[in-house]
Amino acid sequence: MRHLMNPLDFSVEELDKLFDLANDIEKNPEKYAKKCAGKKLATCFYEPSTRTRLSFEAAMINLGGSVIGFSDANSSSAAKGESVSDTIRVISCFADICAMRHPKEGAAMVAAGKSKIPVINAGDGGHQHPTQTLTDLLTIRSLKGKLDHFTIGLCGDLKFGRTVHSLINALSRYEGIRFVFISPEELRVPDYITEMLREKDIPYAEVIKLEEVIGALDLLYMTRVQRERFFNEEDYVRLKDFYILDKKKLAKANQNMLILHPLPRVNEISVEVDDDPRAVYFEQVQYGVYVRMALILTLLELV
Ligand code: NCD
Repeated sequence: MRHLMNPLDFSVEELDKLFDLANDIEKNPEKYAKKCAGKKLATCFYEPSTRTRLSFEAAMINLGGSVIGFSDANSSSAAKGESVSDTIRVISCFADICAMRHPKEGAAMVAAGKSKIPVINAGDGGHQHPTQTLTDLLTIRSLKGKLDHFTIGLCGDLKFGRTVHSLINALSRYEGIRFVFISPEELRVPDYITEMLREKDIPYAEVIKLEEVIGALDLLYMTRVQRERFFNEEDYVRLKDFYILDKKKLAKANQNMLILHPLPRVNEISVEVDDDPRAVYFEQVQYGVYVRMALILTLLELV
């Protein structure tokens, strides 16, 4: 039985197969409409989410399966003090597969250790968010036709943003990737990540100003400042509007650059950018459903 905790749990070849499947689902949805008939997905969300949870639920429903779960730790037995290990043992009796989001780093891994069904990490604290990364990679591969030889700028909260950490991990396995980290000093990418890049001899630069580097990017990954992971509100208020991508800044960017964002957006991309053909963050949401459908089928061994 397989779980998904980290994007690196799948080899590059396995990811290619998963993305081929996702693209086939996109083209031939009717072929997959009953693949999960009689199967149940449990969504165990101990932390707020709209898109990830609903994306999982839509994915399972599109496959003909059904969904159970909770979307708030206070409405689950966690409020009574139940451990994640006990909860997953119970859920294993009710469902065939589980997607779990938790504010604590490593929680999904603890659950996977006790689970009788595949567990998917749907975000663990500031650590990893592998299905967002699968979404990001599928979007890039579908729109650009490849996942190698890119200069990618990651902008915003690179310290607490788990989508950023997962995406860097995943992209570090492809040839010719150059990273440009764009963040205020306080929100720099963690040392363990830059150490990993140095060890693997992968080029990266760290800058503060987006305007200075935007012209050199093939991909720009914008992120929000992660308010819920700040220790004090004052720091959040000071940093929250550090980056606002607007038409003026975008004028300096390459015509083929893609703008991605895991969403939710707060202020970091002005709405005037939404109509620009380079802005693909809402298409990204749709790819998220296809890739979660492909993932459910793969982990349930239905392909
Ligand atoms: C992200 C997350 O939860 O980490 N959202 C998502 O799943 N698409 C990004 C965020 O919350 O900023």
